[in-house]
Amino acid sequence: MTTPERRPLVAGNWKLFKTGSEAVALVRELGQLLQPAPRAEVAVAPVFTALVTVHDALAGSEIKLAAQDVYWEAQGAFTGEVGPLQLKDVGCHYVIVGHSERRQLFHESDGDVNRKARAVLAHGMAPIVCVGETLVEREAGRATEVVVRQMNAALEGMAESAAARIVIAYEPVWAIGTGRNAAPSDAQQMHAQIRSTFAGRFGQTLASGLRVLYGGSVKADNAAALMAQPDVDGALVGGAALAAASFCAIVRAAD
Ligand code: PGA
Repeated sequence: MTTPERRPLVAGNWKLFKTGSEAVALVRELGQLLQPAPRAEVAVAPVFTALVTVHDALAGSEIKLAAQDVYWEAQGAFTGEVGPLQLKDVGCHYVIVGHSERRQLFHESDGDVNRKARAVLAHGMAPIVCVGETLVEREAGRATEVVVRQMNAALEGMAESAAARIVIAYEPVWAIGTGRNAAPSDAQQMHAQIRSTFAGRFGQTLASGLRVLYGGSVKADNAAALMAQPDVDGALVGGAALAAASFCAIVRAAD
């Protein structure tokens, strides 16, 4: 379990699901179920087109708004992209960057992830930077090497003053949407590695405040065991975040 200075964060990544009205209905239900206020900070990441309506529906709520992706330029001739200026403008607090689906399906490089994370920080928001190895990489004994490489690339050139806002999500690719989650002890080992990699760049003090979320088939029945690990500071939740009851049960697992 997280130390007192690290408030756990449970973020729902809704991926390409839900229309604007469905998204609003879900946050209304979450607002009701999350009374009294949970120990964990809670965030939801709807599709871009639902950000404005969800933001309005969250008025007066503690739930934070997150985007699922961002382009690194604030403006310009980049047809189809959404930049950090626009995300800040609609009230995003967090932005997920480098999700494995972005890396795999949309060919995002480590360098792209770095540019995105830095753009998010430069606009006063907090990036949730996703790292994680594939099954082939894990089976080849390369999981740690891959995650450390992704971490170092993502953090390259970042100012220490901004680093305090970064959140890392460890999401082993083989655990995403598969129903197969990492054993809590395996997650703990990687999370400790992530924290020490961060410490190598920014020092122990900042590293001890870094929140490292676990993601990949987090459900109500495995969330408590994962979040009980000393370096697991919350969860990035996909499938189970699409229904209020299952998402709230995960949030409550951090109480
Ligand atoms: P999952 O997705 O919980 O459905 O495995 C997690 C994620 O992709 O962030």
